[in-house]
Amino acid sequence: MARRVAVIGAGVSGLSSIKCCLDEDLEPTCFERSNDIGGLWKFTETSKDGMTRVYRSLVTNVCKEMSCYSDFPFQEDYPNYMNQGKFWDYLQEFVEHFDLLKYIRFRTTVCSVTKRPDFSETGQWDVVTETEGKRDRGVFDAVMVCTGHFLNPHLPLESFPGIHKFKGQILHSQEYKSPEGFQGKRVLVIGLGNTGGDVAVELSRTAAQVLLSTRTGAWVIHRCSNGGYPYNMVITRRYLNFMAQVLPSCVLNWIQERQMNKRLNHENYGLSITKGRKPKFIVNDELPICILCGTVTMKTSVKEFTETSAVFEDGTVEENLDVVIFTTGYTFSFPFLEEPLKSLCTKKIFLYKQVFPSNLERATLAIIGLISLKGSILSGTELQARWATRVFKGLCKIPPSPKLMAEATKKEQLIERGVMKDISKDKLEYITYMDDIAACIGTKPSVPFLFLKDPRLAWEVFFGPCTPYQYRLKGPGKWDGARNAILTQWDRTLKPLKTRIIPDSTKPGSMSHYLKVWGVPILLASLLLICKSSLFLKLVQEFPLTSIW
Ligand SMILES: Cc1cc2nc3c(=O)[nH]c(=O)nc-3n(C[C@H](O)[C@H](O)[C@H](O)COP(=O)(O)OP(=O)(O)OC[C@H]3O[C@@H](n4cnc5c(N)ncnc54)[C@H](O)[C@@H]3O)c2cc1C
Ligand SMILES: NC(=O)c1ccc[n+]([C@@H]2O[C@H](COP(=O)([O-])OP(=O)(O)OC[C@H]3O[C@@H](n4cnc5c(N)ncnc54)[C@H](OP(=O)(O)O)[C@@H]3O)[C@@H](O)[C@H]2O)c1
Repeated sequence: MARRVAVIGAGVSGLSSIKCCLDEDLEPTCFERSNDIGGLWKFTETSKDGMTRVYRSLVTNVCKEMSCYSDFPFQEDYPNYMNQGKFWDYLQEFVEHFDLLKYIRFRTTVCSVTKRPDFSETGQWDVVTETEGKRDRGVFDAVMVCTGHFLNPHLPLESFPGIHKFKGQILHSQEYKSPEGFQGKRVLVIGLGNTGGDVAVELSRTAAQVLLSTRTGAWVIHRCSNGGYPYNMVITRRYLNFMAQVLPSCVLNWIQERQMNKRLNHENYGLSITKGRKPKFIVNDELPICILCGTVTMKTSVKEFTETSAVFEDGTVEENLDVVIFTTGYTFSFPFLEEPLKSLCTKKIFLYKQVFPSNLERATLAIIGLISLKGSILSGTELQARWATRVFKGLCKIPPSPKLMAEATKKEQLIERGVMKDISKDKLEYITYMDDIAACIGTKPSVPFLFLKDPRLAWEVFFGPCTPYQYRLKGPGKWDGARNAILTQWDRTLKPLKTRIIPDSTKPGSMSHYLKVWGVPILLASLLLICKSSLFLKLVQEFPLTSIW
């Protein structure tokens, strides 16, 4: 059974991994190459160390109740969406509360992780580290790789003919920290992800002109949903997930498109998804305003560059460009792993439930945080870490390696032959993925059982936002505060907004508000009840009572 665990990286994933080890009575040692916790959430003025980090103006894109450690809610006065500094403060509070600092060795880079000669019996690993030039070696029973998804900048210069002739400044968003230095310039931003949207909006306030080039377009989501409620809390609900699973995808897409275009006609703004491309979503509150005000101009993809200009696919030319910023995302790698494990880990289909490499005869190495979720990465990585530590201890089992390899290889072949779509890079449905991992641990909430035992809680669990506390209601790692955290999640959401209370204010339209908020859940519940009771009546009529009970 595993005892000593090496955790590589002290970012969001590494911190939860340390805590999960402690929860399972394992002995974690965390190696962090930088001098602080938080990984990419630790803002620095420069990116000279080659690490991907947040830029100064970054604000979280998942609200606090949906993106916290499941037994450690944010303090109630924290804003729902917060700047990077405040989010880092939360990570610091988490570290202090659970006393995690003493398990972290800073300025220590993991150089290699190799199987011990007796790996097939022991599952142990040799871990070589370097701390300020000094090498060290240790033997560990298990390894949690928490080195992040955004290790190296993806700079696809080869896709841009003429880029080497361009005489202006070229940079990748990894180097972008703030709008200083871009005043009065004509800037071309390439790539419409969350970074591209943010950088374009921020520069639009100081640059002479910002052009934003996209091959695909994007659905633009606002942090603030109908009624001013945080978007993630409104859409990430079990009953909606249930409806999404039963409705045909064409109906679902039609509803989604209608909803998205209701607030903002994406076509008019040059944001709509190019035919044949996979739709994607970004969170941005200001981009439409900037386009409306002409401070950001949407462009198609770039065909080629000249010394001073860019020629776009639609034939238009933008002259006198000063700067090109590639906000084209990141790649990841595991330089410290040996082959074939190193290559295999970069292919998500070879990671069982995105965590365990399929080719290991002993499941003693887990990749934590290599997920793209339609929701909080933090909550996803925490659940992965909870599961992994229980697998290390032998309390949860995963299928044997030959079976996993055979399945993954078959999938890969079908994808290569074009029989199957490669969805391994797509963002995963949040609740579906979380429930899947939770089921492996034994912490997936049972909604029907909850309705019998605790209807008030069940109502909030099924119709309310699927907050991470739901995965602490039962099973291993059960937290006594989970029920209360769920029932008070709206209090913590509204608390930072209630900074100006007007004592005798009436509540205009409160009836219609309640109808809007609860109308759909009540309708759905009634339909379910009607279906159930008619089924029940049918059963009663057709069978003797004894056969039912
Ligand atoms: C700009 C940006 C904004 C984001 N905003 C959000 C958001 O609002 N909401 C959200 O849910 N997600 C967001 N994400 C996703 C983000 O990936 C997660 O929130 C989370 O930070 C991932 O944490 P991590 O610990 O997996 O990786 P990281 O934060 O990248 O941490 C990895 C750590 O591993 C260390 N490390 C790497 N290699 C080694 C080695 N060989 N030896 C020792 N240490 C090593 C690094 O120094 C680093 O500290 C954002 C991502 C980016 C890039
Ligand atoms: N909290 C926040 O608000 C926030 C802010 C920033 C980032 N993030 C997170 O950080 C992570 C990284 O985001 P990101 O925006 O940096 O990267 P990203 O999501 O990978 O987006 C990069 C974009 O670059 C474009 N691109 C990629 N390859 C290209 C190529 N070969 N040629 C031209 N264009 C190319 C694509 O846009 P087109 O298809 O449009 O061309 C792609 O969507 C994500 O998880 C994101 O959610 C969060």
